[in-house]
Amino acid sequence: MKILGIESSCDETACSVVEDGKNVLSNIVASQIDEHRLYGGVVPEIASRRHAENISWVAKAALDEAGCTLDDIGAIAVTYAPGLIGALLVGVSFAKGLAMSAHKPLVPVHHIAGHIAANYISHPDLKPPYLCLVVSGGHSHIVEVLDYTKYRVIGRTRDDAAGECFDKAARTLGYEYPGGKFIDAAAKKGDPDAFKLPHPKVQGSEYDFSFSGLKTAVINTVHNAEQKGESINREDMSASFQKTISDILVEKAMLAAENFGYKTLAVAGGVSANSGVRTALQKACDERGCRLYMPELKYCGDNGAMIACQGYYDYISGKRADESLNGIATLSLDKLSEG
Ligand code: KG4
Ligand code: ZN
Repeated sequence: MKILGIESSCDETACSVVEDGKNVLSNIVASQIDEHRLYGGVVPEIASRRHAENISWVAKAALDEAGCTLDDIGAIAVTYAPGLIGALLVGVSFAKGLAMSAHKPLVPVHHIAGHIAANYISHPDLKPPYLCLVVSGGHSHIVEVLDYTKYRVIGRTRDDAAGECFDKAARTLGYEYPGGKFIDAAAKKGDPDAFKLPHPKVQGSEYDFSFSGLKTAVINTVHNAEQKGESINREDMSASFQKTISDILVEKAMLAAENFGYKTLAVAGGVSANSGVRTALQKACDERGCRLYMPELKYCGDNGAMIACQGYYDYISGKRADESLNGIATLSLDKLSEG
């Protein structure tokens, strides 16, 4: 069965046709990042307008590249939560219109569930249950993936998300938005032990994250050096920062895997593209005899294929939406399992 996946929760207008939740027939991503970069972050109003301009041709291009028409599509899957509300509403409204006019089932997909599902595209052998570390621009979670459509969040960030922390550290070091990939590149040339950065402690839950102290430490170190008329080595700071955040992510994910008895781990979200995080997770999993699944780099960031893939599993589980479907800015993965 072919599913058209539609994603517009942030700054990428993306559509894809995926067959049976694994064969990607097309994957079109129209990124707005060059425009948002001018403002140092995503401007919601601009994002909504660009989605509205792009969504029709992106959907058409996805169908064309897959060599099909709407007649060949079995269902339309769309990201309805979480994300920027104006941005979500463009995809949701478009998907509703398309589904109603073409008489196709409409399947609402949770964006983070989509990120997790990106792993099924790259690794058809991956099957729940497993533990997933979700690290994106807006979320940092440790999630028990109990089934293809059932989740339990056992750890979350108390403040900044991992990607947000990468981007803020990058901005302090003078890199453009979104700076995660620039830190990744610079870290390859730097000394990870050059700067001692804090591993913030979180009271209450050993699986929760807190990245604001780490972010502040980078900002303070850079500003203190500037006030003395000195400059810090960006490559060394990038390497030290990346090592610290990787250590924190790996430590918590491994603790959760051990305590909850998981030998299968996955990672998902934009930060799962980070080479330091990937290497550190792989090493920790190898040492403990755990199997690690990581999405291919092209499916780490926002894309329509992950939505079509998760849409397939949601469709099989009977999930449907009608013309009353609305966008939801904030919605925990836990809530999906309750519904
Ligand atoms: O999952 P995503 O595309 O969007 C959200 O759902 O939030 O994640 C975007 C985040 C940004 O913060 C970006 O800087 C980060 O992923 N990112 C990276 C890398 N590539 C993207 N962070 C670190 N290293 C990378 N190579
Ligand atoms: Zn995302």
